[in-house]
Amino acid sequence: MGNGIAQVAARAGYRVVMQDVKDDFLKRGMAAISKSLQREVEKERLSEEEKQAVIDRIKITTDMRDLSSASFIVEAVTEDLGVKMELFKSLDQITPPATILASNTSSISITKLGAATARPDRVIGMHFMNPVPVMKLVEVIRGMATSNETYQRVRALGERLGKTTLDCQDSPGFVSNRVLMPMINEAIFTLYEGVATRESIDGIMKLGMNHPMGPLTLADFIGLDVCLAILNVLHEGLGDPKYRPCPLLKRYVDAGWLGRKSGRGFYEY
Ligand code: 3HC
Repeated sequence: MGNGIAQVAARAGYRVVMQDVKDDFLKRGMAAISKSLQREVEKERLSEEEKQAVIDRIKITTDMRDLSSASFIVEAVTEDLGVKMELFKSLDQITPPATILASNTSSISITKLGAATARPDRVIGMHFMNPVPVMKLVEVIRGMATSNETYQRVRALGERLGKTTLDCQDSPGFVSNRVLMPMINEAIFTLYEGVATRESIDGIMKLGMNHPMGPLTLADFIGLDVCLAILNVLHEGLGDPKYRPCPLLKRYVDAGWLGRKSGRGFYEY
């Protein structure tokens, strides 16, 4: 998700610093950006020079201090409350007080992330969808203390990135994943119980409901570890057993079968 967000920001003319913990991850991110922009070149929506200019606007680094002059940060690290809280604490220390700290979290409380900083008024949820360059939506989530000014800046930024922003309250999974994940989980239960094959489950939802991808293909695309993390947030946060993750999903994640990114999930890649 991080490289997609960097790409749309650089395409909109912003200078971007993309930071990760390992050089390898950054190289993979830049390769994904280059491939995605190349599609646009092939469709003659972008010239080679424009593609290069977008790439040149992205600086990569493993040193978090390189973010210290950023006026706006979008965090897209792993979907884990502890990891995100630590990161928000660090970002709060290294950036000027006016910098907005946005999170691309799929489900975690923005209020909790805000409380990890001394600037909860400048902490907000900016939830992009995968693949970021294609999907039109940014779900905007205000925490308890998020200011109006922060909210307005995020909406303006979303528009400049060519996205439609839609608001929702700070509730587990927000709207997108509260509605999407139970469907994916139920599809996994139908596979687990032998109700149908993976191809039938996906085909029924694609052809019958006009979904662009079947739910098992979509789960592989999102990442099974991410799906499990979101379901756990829904289950714990809302306390309703209807959100319990399917045991088959847990087993796949335990096996390291995380979907497309690991070469195996409900399908082989
Ligand atoms: N970068 C740039 N363009 C891309 C791209 C990428 N990574 N991936 C696809 N595209 C473009 C293609 O070039 C093509 O463009 P065109 O219509 O202008 O020619 C268009 O998208 C369609 O692509 P394809 O023809 O290759 O393939 P599909 O028609 O199957 O579309 C898809 C691919 C857009 C990914 C479609 O399958 C889809 O919409 N799937 C569902 C995606 C979805 O539900 N995303 C949300 C996931 S939930 C989430 O992200 C939230 C998180 O919190 C979990």
